[in-house]
Amino acid sequence: MERILITSALPYINGVKHLGNLIGSQLPSDVYARFMRSLGFEVMFICATDEHGTPAELAAISKNIPVKDFCEEMWSLQKKIADNFHISFDYFGRSSSQQNHQLTQHFATKLWENSFIEEVEEKQVYSLADNRFLPDRYITGTCPACGYEKARGDQCELCTKQLEPTDLINPKSTISGSQSLEIRTTKNLFLKQSLLKEKLEKWIETKEGWPVLTKSIAKKWLNTKEGLKDRGITRDLSWGIPVKKYEDIWPGFEDKVFYVWFDAPIAYIATTKEWSDKNKLPDTSWKRWWLTDEGAENVSYVQFMAKDNIPFHTISFPATIFGSGENWKQVDFIKGFNWLLYEGGKFSTSEQRGIFMDQALDLYPADYWRWWLLANAPESSDTDFTWESFQSTINKDLADVLGNFISRVASFSVSKFGNVIPDTQIYGQLEKETIKKLDYHYKCLKDLMQNIEIRKSCNALRSIWVTGNEYLQKAAPWSILKENPERSKMIIRFSLNLINLYSLVSEPFIPFTCGKIRNHFQFSKVTKWPENLDSFLNTLGDGHKICVPDILFQKITDEERIRYQQTFSGISP
Ligand code: MF3
Ligand code: ZN
Repeated sequence: MERILITSALPYINGVKHLGNLIGSQLPSDVYARFMRSLGFEVMFICATDEHGTPAELAAISKNIPVKDFCEEMWSLQKKIADNFHISFDYFGRSSSQQNHQLTQHFATKLWENSFIEEVEEKQVYSLADNRFLPDRYITGTCPACGYEKARGDQCELCTKQLEPTDLINPKSTISGSQSLEIRTTKNLFLKQSLLKEKLEKWIETKEGWPVLTKSIAKKWLNTKEGLKDRGITRDLSWGIPVKKYEDIWPGFEDKVFYVWFDAPIAYIATTKEWSDKNKLPDTSWKRWWLTDEGAENVSYVQFMAKDNIPFHTISFPATIFGSGENWKQVDFIKGFNWLLYEGGKFSTSEQRGIFMDQALDLYPADYWRWWLLANAPESSDTDFTWESFQSTINKDLADVLGNFISRVASFSVSKFGNVIPDTQIYGQLEKETIKKLDYHYKCLKDLMQNIEIRKSCNALRSIWVTGNEYLQKAAPWSILKENPERSKMIIRFSLNLINLYSLVSEPFIPFTCGKIRNHFQFSKVTKWPENLDSFLNTLGDGHKICVPDILFQKITDEERIRYQQTFSGISP
């Protein structure tokens, strides 16, 4: 049987992520991982913090602590928040791990041996005040393409153009603000991606099922000179994976480290090794996921990321892998996401606009956020988080449809028939029709999730919940209780089986609530989802104990909505 390798783009270490980051990779990859496990696949779900590069250094400088300590602290925090959102990583590692140092250096030497790396003399901005080179984000200035005044040395945030520090107009140092800069020559290692153009092209051509977003970005990069430009993979920084280990090959690189975008994707692999080392497993246990001659030919590898990450995952990282000449597993499917907006604008860290992951959990349980974000995932276009939409989705889908069904059924059952499921007659026509409808939505859900259609999967799941409500409304066990108590009991037994079904099929989306329901009603754990629902909906019968649960979903009030709208609207820049 096929095994499924899943990676979520590695979050930068420099701060707590916002809800847009969450829906851009960790959350949908978690749903997919949980789902594939439910179908019985063996899954390896990997993520890590992306710790190198200038954002980490700058954040540490602003907090006045050593970058190593900063990363340590932020890793724990990010890990804790991911756990609280019930993200079911098999391992959440760090790109600064020893394993990644080794593997990154390994890839660099392989690429060198295969002539895909060359030393290039280039001009870099040097700051006299800071006494150092200013790579990437150490420099800001005006974007030559769109005129945005706070463009960074690596990329313009506004128009997303990739930049070199020397491209900026009116540049200044991010550290000191100094403008006394000069251009000096230095040498760096370059990855000659252009030599791999044909190979990459052919490979991308074979990816017929890739989403339009992924493929169009990949093709755009392949077909512009800009996209396949040879990329500098070293930087004049002290924090990172040192190049100096290979002084016999690369003398003069003692003060340089690899560029963060070179080592970060390699950390997908290294983190799997970290997992294996931490668990004291033999090397074969991580290699069977990553080396095609050690078992990975049976692996289907799926990556999740926001759209700005797609070029690095369709071009640069595959180029690193191809260039190594070794049998590393290439990605099979890339799920890319558009942006999540916040009340019509951008989420902004600097302007404290929008909701960050730690704040979110202080306001509402993780499942509220999970459900809204998944039901509105920015798949085919950007989507907008608004408090109004959040309030109405949670109140309708979770409280009125799902929560209400469960409490109505349980209360009625307990008050009329006591604390056990009533022993009753077999299902009638209405139940059979309902099973048919449910089965249809259930199969849709399975197909959609296998194709990683997140929003549509949420619709299918919602249809399953709604079908139950419609059934209960029609069957109306309360109105026939007197004249036909046996039928009323049967309706309740069927409805309790529906709750069991809900706790099973909703689990990938709202796992905490489903765990709560399962515990409360003492539903036994199902290791693999059933083929169809006929016998599953007959699981619970005579004598199964029940009692009334606490309210599962408190409604969001207008007053709360208005208050939070104000709290999170940001400070004026
Ligand atoms: N840290 C990057 C971001 O947040 C993503 C890195 S993905 C990796 O955009 F594969 F390179 F690690
Ligand atoms: Zn720009």
